[in-house]
Amino acid sequence: MTALTTARARTPLRWRGIRRWHVLERLARERQWRRGAELGLLRGETYLYLLARLPGLTLIGVDLWAAAKSDAGDPGYRSYEGRPLAAFEAHVRGQAGEFGCRAIILKTTTRAAAERVADASLDFVFIDADHTVKGVTGDIFAWAPKVGKGGWILGHDIHFPSVRRAVDGILPAYREYPDFVWGVPKARTRFAATLPGGCCKPSRSQDFTERRG
Ligand SMILES: C[S@@+](CC[C@H](N)C(=O)[O-])C[C@H]1O[C@@H](n2cnc3c(N)ncnc32)[C@H](O)[C@@H]1O
Repeated sequence: MTALTTARARTPLRWRGIRRWHVLERLARERQWRRGAELGLLRGETYLYLLARLPGLTLIGVDLWAAAKSDAGDPGYRSYEGRPLAAFEAHVRGQAGEFGCRAIILKTTTRAAAERVADASLDFVFIDADHTVKGVTGDIFAWAPKVGKGGWILGHDIHFPSVRRAVDGILPAYREYPDFVWGVPKARTRFAATLPGGCCKPSRSQDFTERRG
């Protein structure tokens, strides 16, 4: 059994059948989130579910639907080679049309998309694109500033050793939720002094370290 299937088998019974979109829906309802972003859409399972279930939500969705530059040597790397990415994109765009301007789809890299989103403009970001250590690390630093006060930084696949390494290294206060979702309120986040792999040091404007005391 691989490390990943072992992690799945260890899922607590009470969490079985709960998917990432259920987790996000619940948090969004409890906290009345109105603006968010999902990084990595693939077939849009989470994206379309949230837009359908939460009529007050405007959701930015980011996907390149093509091979993005990444650290191919990292076991967390996925090339999506052989997957019908064009068909997935067409499906997401087709279904998203129903939600009008609440669905904002950016077909670009997650890093380029971050430059198009204003700082402190989101209630949450859900990071589920490049699963390498560098990918997750870079997405956290690029997107954490987009989340406003009281907002949340979340992501998927915390059972991937690469994802865990990145999140452990930067946001050690995160909690785990069903279906391998990780999340932390921005106010409770603290950057670790050193970053995994030594990449992407936060700039001053990206420092969202909690002010204690
Ligand atoms: C795990 S899938 C996303 C699954 C989706 N979040 C869901 O819940 O159903 C990852 C997606 O991220 C996209 N992706 C990977 N790296 C990316 C990058 N650097 N920029 C934009 N999209 C990327 C891939 O094309 C793929 O569609």
